[in-house]
Amino acid sequence: MYKSDVSTDGKIRLLFICLGNICRSPAAHGVMQQMVDEGGIADRFYIDSAGIGDWHVGQLPDLRMRRHGARRGYDFNHHARQFKKSDFGKFDYIVVMDESNYSAIMSMTDSEADRRKVIRMVDYISHFPDATSVPDPYYGESEAFDFALDLIEDGCRGIMDKCLDSLK
Ligand code: 4NP
Repeated sequence: MYKSDVSTDGKIRLLFICLGNICRSPAAHGVMQQMVDEGGIADRFYIDSAGIGDWHVGQLPDLRMRRHGARRGYDFNHHARQFKKSDFGKFDYIVVMDESNYSAIMSMTDSEADRRKVIRMVDYISHFPDATSVPDPYYGESEAFDFALDLIEDGCRGIMDKCLDSLK
């Protein structure tokens, strides 16, 4: 994992991205925040999430994702915001959920340094070898939300392990 030099306070800055910022990325944000809180390393991280689109700006996560998260002990309470080009200067890693997100974010990059920050969640998932993305559950049934959370928990664990290596 490439280590950028955004941080002046030693924190690793992670921005999770999906299309609407109401299902997958606020869930990843909440899962990762809880992992670092429970690991006693929250002071080493700054975690946020944002969407490609602006349709849901200001909204809490989708009620279905909040309910599924609550069953696993999470409180997803981020208010949606849209990704901005200036985020490249504020984060070390920009973690996208699928290839469409990847293309959208890459199309806004201006430099190799920006491009190196963009990483795919699926590349950190280890228990679902057939996964090629974290699929959008928005138009799916309950199982789609559970599956998205299974993938997100797995991917966040993988990302945290990589970050811990870089903190050593
Ligand atoms: P997300 O899911 O990208 O995981 O937040 C979606 C939420 C809303 C829409 C699409 C995807 N939408 O079209 O409004």
